[in-house]
Amino acid sequence: MAYGLLNGKRGIISGALDENSIAWKVALKAKEEGAIFTLTNAPIAMRMGAIKELAEQCNAEIIPADATSVEDIENLFSKSTEVLGGKLDFVLHSIGMSPNVRKGKAYTDLNYDWFKQSIDISALSFHKMMQTAYKQDAINEWGSVVALTYMAAQRTFPFYGDMADAKAVLESIARSFGYKYGKYRKVRVNTVSQSPTPTKAGSGIGGFDKFFDFADKTAPLGNATADQCADYVITLFSDLTRMVTMQNLFHDGGFSMTGISEEVMELITKE
Ligand SMILES: NC(=O)c1ccc[n+]([C@@H]2O[C@H](COP(=O)([O-])OP(=O)(O)OC[C@H]3O[C@@H](n4cnc5c(N)ncnc54)[C@H](O)[C@@H]3O)[C@@H](O)[C@H]2O)c1
Repeated sequence: MAYGLLNGKRGIISGALDENSIAWKVALKAKEEGAIFTLTNAPIAMRMGAIKELAEQCNAEIIPADATSVEDIENLFSKSTEVLGGKLDFVLHSIGMSPNVRKGKAYTDLNYDWFKQSIDISALSFHKMMQTAYKQDAINEWGSVVALTYMAAQRTFPFYGDMADAKAVLESIARSFGYKYGKYRKVRVNTVSQSPTPTKAGSGIGGFDKFFDFADKTAPLGNATADQCADYVITLFSDLTRMVTMQNLFHDGGFSMTGISEEVMELITKE
């Protein structure tokens, strides 16, 4: 059911790789709620082709951009405002990748060049997007910027590797830039901390299936799906959440506030 929450709003949605991507679901719901937007992803993701299907469904133009390249991001924002016919109301950062995690490097044996790439792709890219938007004055007053994150920024999950550090930087950038953008144009900036979700990025984390089950059995509501995450992101893009900014918002069925559940106790007792 659609509510017209984004009627007349313009935006940029990054990170839709395939139909499992959280950004893919956000795009479908943003369309349903009346928004117009551009889609973006790394040039390499274009070659995989799926994003073109999404673009057709959403009647959206694709503007490729490597999120580590300021030049690409500048082009993304200037082209988006041109194509959409005005300044933006929302931006989704749904980008994450760690070469160390992907290649199975232990946290005690990191490759530091890859570590820098993890931070650049997964965290600095968020700053680069906002700095570009700020300089181009590309976002309307009361606009909304959202990035996706994971609770490993606050608590340790042994297999999350250097992505935990990247997420901590990402969440800090949301607070620091949220202050500046709030003062400048009343633009709000938040991160959504999502449950483990079976996507390309999620499944790349070692032991993902067990980790997913553990979270599902711990959270009183169970894990939040990508679809439910998209619903939440839409509310943050809407005018209903105008005074929410600089927050890290848990969207995890209560996992982050649960010590242990009866289900997990039972599993441990069985052993
Ligand atoms: N899946 C989970 O369990 C989970 C949980 C919490 C948070 N998140 C976060 O959600 C976000 C989206 O991930 P997802 O789970 O939908 O997986 P996904 O693999 O579908 O999306 C990750 C996206 O990042 C893009 N990307 C990677 N390098 C890039 C670059 N250099 N430039 C531009 N784009 C680049 C990929 O092409 C892909 O579209 C990520 O920030 C991820 O960390 C995921």
